[in-house]
Amino acid sequence: MNFELTINPTTEIEADIELILVIDKDFKHTFIKDQKLLTKAGFSAGEDEVSLFVEKNRLYVGIDSLSSANIRTAVATAIRSLTSTTYKSLKIASYMNNEKCTALLRAMVEGFILGAYSFNKYKSNKRIQPIKDITISLEEYHGYKLDIEKCAIALEKGQITAEATNFTRDIVNTTPEDCYPAVMADIAKSLAKNSSLECKILKPKELRAEKMETLLAVARSSRHKPRVIHLSHKPKNPKAVISLVGKGLTYDSGGLSLKPSTSMVTMKLDKSGGCAVLGIMKAIEEMNLNVEVHGFIGAVENMIGGDAYKPDDVLVAKNGKTIEIRNTDAEGRLVLADVLCYAQQEVKADYIFDYATLTGASVVAVGHYTSSVVGNSDLPKDLIISGAKSAGEFATKLDFNRYLKKSISSEIADICNISSSRYGGAITAGQFLEEFIDDDHKDKWAHIDIAGPAFVEHVWGENPHGASGAGVRMTLRLLEKLAKD
Ligand code: BES
Ligand code: ZN
Ligand code: ZN
Repeated sequence: MNFELTINPTTEIEADIELILVIDKDFKHTFIKDQKLLTKAGFSAGEDEVSLFVEKNRLYVGIDSLSSANIRTAVATAIRSLTSTTYKSLKIASYMNNEKCTALLRAMVEGFILGAYSFNKYKSNKRIQPIKDITISLEEYHGYKLDIEKCAIALEKGQITAEATNFTRDIVNTTPEDCYPAVMADIAKSLAKNSSLECKILKPKELRAEKMETLLAVARSSRHKPRVIHLSHKPKNPKAVISLVGKGLTYDSGGLSLKPSTSMVTMKLDKSGGCAVLGIMKAIEEMNLNVEVHGFIGAVENMIGGDAYKPDDVLVAKNGKTIEIRNTDAEGRLVLADVLCYAQQEVKADYIFDYATLTGASVVAVGHYTSSVVGNSDLPKDLIISGAKSAGEFATKLDFNRYLKKSISSEIADICNISSSRYGGAITAGQFLEEFIDDDHKDKWAHIDIAGPAFVEHVWGENPHGASGAGVRMTLRLLEKLAKD
């Protein structure tokens, strides 16, 4: 999708169709050309309500207010509604009502690219988005002067962010038959091949040498051997050093504690944390952000078989802690335990964030659209939450408490991989991970459970059916902020 910024008014731009955002439900304060016809057609300018005027080549979409989040979803909904049309070019006013608000322009660009996404790999009849060229008019809106250079930067950042999100979506949506640990490692290698990123892959032999026995135990019964991926972006004088750790379960059958068949469907999503890290690494390299960022991914498949790890096993993690296994479906925390230890051994970071579709309990606690964020200290959690806010993602804090912590104690090992309580599972999973964070990193770490938003089987806002790319946008905003400070 090509974007062009122009200072010409929309009336002077040649395009197949014009997209108009309608903010004012009663048309009292805005001049809308087709006001009467819109009323006749029953258009009430509700949030994300779309009306196409074929004869006039105009597409109207309702929007509650001109916030970044609203613009992103309105534009995404609008472009999605054009999927079966043949319009190739589109024009739109920038709707920037203040000289500083390049964030609105970025949100608009993100909305177009995110809304135009569809996953076609396995479709015979591909749903191709016809719009190829979008012209955005920066004509002074309400008389504000716009800085074209700043607008161009916002446009580019929006493009990189949304394309990285779509890149993540593509990998998550790919079936476990086509995307297994070695394939994730190949994707990481190809990212590094075409850029300044460095890439190191650990195969079983190296994983054994690194004593990553809990990760290896989860991986054992799969024909697909595990990989740990380490991608790094190292500018010369970085403002901060950040490690990102992703759960990359290319399939989670539950292992011997087998999932019920209806819960198993969609479990290709369980690599979403790792795929988010891949997307983030791609984008920070393209943005050339002045922060050192290390992406670590534990890519593993959790299957059943004669060689499977079992409830009743006691595993020894990389940091020497022993773990009683009572449920092999709580495998993500085992993989993350070892990868978190490895990440801390390799890099002394100012911040460490991990991303995982870790618990169904997170979805129960905060719903399908929100990520839950836990950790010992407010600073890293707040960084994620404010990144999410400015990126149009939802994230909220869940606090640790010492009473819940008791529920993951074990009679026979240092800790148990599941809680003895039915409740608070998103928090206890975070408290399990905390056991693998060393003292130096305790206040620098936050865990983001993306089990809710990573994969939703309907369209919502700028997100399609399936993978959303959760975590990518919030983290890019956070890293951009750290690169500036
Ligand atoms: N990958 C799942 C969590 C999950 C569930 C992600 C639904 C997305 C949607 C994870 O490995 C898992 O199975 N967790 C168990 C933990 C339990 C056994 C303590 C869960 O949430 O049921
Ligand atoms: Zn599981
Ligand atoms: Zn899992």
